[in-house]
Amino acid sequence: MTAADDHGRRNRRAWNRMADQYQEILAELGTPDELTWGWWRHSEHRLDILGELTGRDVLDLGCGAAGWARRLADHGANVVGIDASARQLAHARDSTAGGAAVALVNGDAERLPFADASFDVAVSNWGALSFCDPHVAVPEAARVLRPGGLLVVCTSSPIYWLCTASDADQPGTEIRRSYFDLHRSPGNTGTVRFQLPYGGWIRTFAEAGLTIEALIEPVPDPATVIPAHLEQATWRHWLANWPFDVIWKVRKPTHR
Ligand SMILES: C[S@@+](CC[C@H](N)C(=O)[O-])C[C@H]1O[C@@H](n2cnc3c(N)ncnc32)[C@H](O)[C@@H]1O
Repeated sequence: MTAADDHGRRNRRAWNRMADQYQEILAELGTPDELTWGWWRHSEHRLDILGELTGRDVLDLGCGAAGWARRLADHGANVVGIDASARQLAHARDSTAGGAAVALVNGDAERLPFADASFDVAVSNWGALSFCDPHVAVPEAARVLRPGGLLVVCTSSPIYWLCTASDADQPGTEIRRSYFDLHRSPGNTGTVRFQLPYGGWIRTFAEAGLTIEALIEPVPDPATVIPAHLEQATWRHWLANWPFDVIWKVRKPTHR
């Protein structure tokens, strides 16, 4: 295995190490009382991306502690949450112990342990698709979707990457890396994250047979809580002016 393809192992190890602290940060932000997308909690009710969920088979790619998966189940979906990190899944098991009907699977979104055409919807809310090679994980998600099925990927914007040095998390207001080189980036937390230029995402979805319905670039509410460990003024300025969370809404056609 080369350094360029060991991201699965590195991310699993990093998320096992970071899981407890990550859940503390989420707890600091408080539990939203609805389904929300991304770091800045854009309301699904307002954006209306998923449509009717009752009775739908939904796969949560990189479900973490199952915060999303539980809410999807509350909306009547049959939910499977998959995550590479056993420690994240331990939190998920605690959070679903109250009876939420969520099946939890320890596995890799680049090699999904599900049959073709098993799900109506697949979502990655800053989940596996932010840490997998899109050239592998997008076709794999497309494979497990039924015809007409929806894939929704909420992750960071290519613009955020351009404005963020590869060893930092905090964006600046200058371009700090090459647009054409966007792909694999080892971060300072031990994770390896992935991003593509806009054209690269469009090509990757198209090559997986998926049709893009929307690229949503929601502007955070100015009252959004920014975690205490982040520089408040820098982030407020950035979030007011450039897209951080972006949401790709793509669909597997009914007929090919
Ligand atoms: C930022 S957390 C987000 C968790 C959850 N979606 C949420 O909204 O809280 C990213 C999650 O993706 C998982 N992950 C990373 N790479 C993965 C992979 N290849 N397959 C499955 N899960 C993965 C991590 O273990 C982690 O739980």
